[in-house]
Amino acid sequence: MSGAVTSLITGTGSYLPEKVMTNDDLAGVMETSDEWIRKRTGIAQRHIAAEGEKTSDLACHAAREAITAAGLDVEAIDAIVIATTTPDDTFPSTAASVQAKLGATNAFAFDVQAVCAGFVYALDVADALIKSQKAEKVLVIGAETFTRILDWEDRTTAVLFGDGAGAVVLEASNNAPDWGILSSCLFTDGRFRDLLYVDGGVSSTGDVGHVRMKGNEVFRHAVEKLSSSLDAALKSAGLKDDDIDWLVPHQANIRIIDSMQKKLGMPSEKVVRTVSQHANTSAASIPLALNAAVQDGRIQPGHIIAFEAIGGGLTWGAALARFGRP
Ligand code: UT7
Repeated sequence: MSGAVTSLITGTGSYLPEKVMTNDDLAGVMETSDEWIRKRTGIAQRHIAAEGEKTSDLACHAAREAITAAGLDVEAIDAIVIATTTPDDTFPSTAASVQAKLGATNAFAFDVQAVCAGFVYALDVADALIKSQKAEKVLVIGAETFTRILDWEDRTTAVLFGDGAGAVVLEASNNAPDWGILSSCLFTDGRFRDLLYVDGGVSSTGDVGHVRMKGNEVFRHAVEKLSSSLDAALKSAGLKDDDIDWLVPHQANIRIIDSMQKKLGMPSEKVVRTVSQHANTSAASIPLALNAAVQDGRIQPGHIIAFEAIGGGLTWGAALARFGRP
């Protein structure tokens, strides 16, 4: 091994549960309409995990696809980091369940909890494990059964979310300077807790609770915080707005995504948008969108990708990566 260690994205994968729920399906059970949901959010449908299908099951499907895409055997994985807010159980971690289900016997495994910003946090943690030489091949997964914590009586949140999982494999390299994860910047401001939270928990109510959100206030924070964190990540990587080949943002609302695109002055076709088909899948939304654009050939090795997300906490952040291996 020679140069500085970098963390290459060598494989991607994703999984969506079979069942699809359209806006019209929702309009049949609550006071809402396809028109309102499309106009305010860009969402047309969402996927819903089957009864008995757990977050770890979704994660395993995505993980297997990513490991295959990287050309690895599961035994080669030495760490698993899962971003999730909807774990199978309070403990053990969903990552420990995934490790067992995959047979990834050489990996240590743990969950990261940063709600919708979870994937950016998990990517940063995995990159740090690689750069500190604690691990060489890390599976980073965003996986959620978010619809399990929705209040189906609350139309202001029930129409927004869906279930799914996405995964990437990060691999250490000593021969690829300026490839892989180039920078990542994370932020938290817990004073904004009440804008987006769950009204239950292990040491408060003893149950899992339901999602509560002041959507329009979160919206106001989103564009400003997403763009300042992306600026910080660009600065840290020594890059400019127009170096970005693809923006792969958290998929919460098409209006937030479009505002970011305009702020960056990017052509619309350089932004990956999956919110219409997936809705907001929290920590799974970025790796789901990434894999969609890798699968259809838009994202190619060598392209610079910007990731950005904001979620409950508030937590937010951005990361830049040169995709693939040289
Ligand atoms: O992923 C984590 C980060 N989360 C986000 O980034 C979400 C950010 N926020 C948003 O995406 C948007 O704020 C929402 C999509 C949640 C809401 O859109 P909005 O344009 O901010 O609408 P609003 O909350 O200001 O509500 C406008 C109106 C209200 O009626 P009145 O008071 O004007 O009569 C709501 O009661 O729309 C009503 N409304 C609905 N109507 C039909 C709220 N939800 C619905 C609904 N169907 N599902």
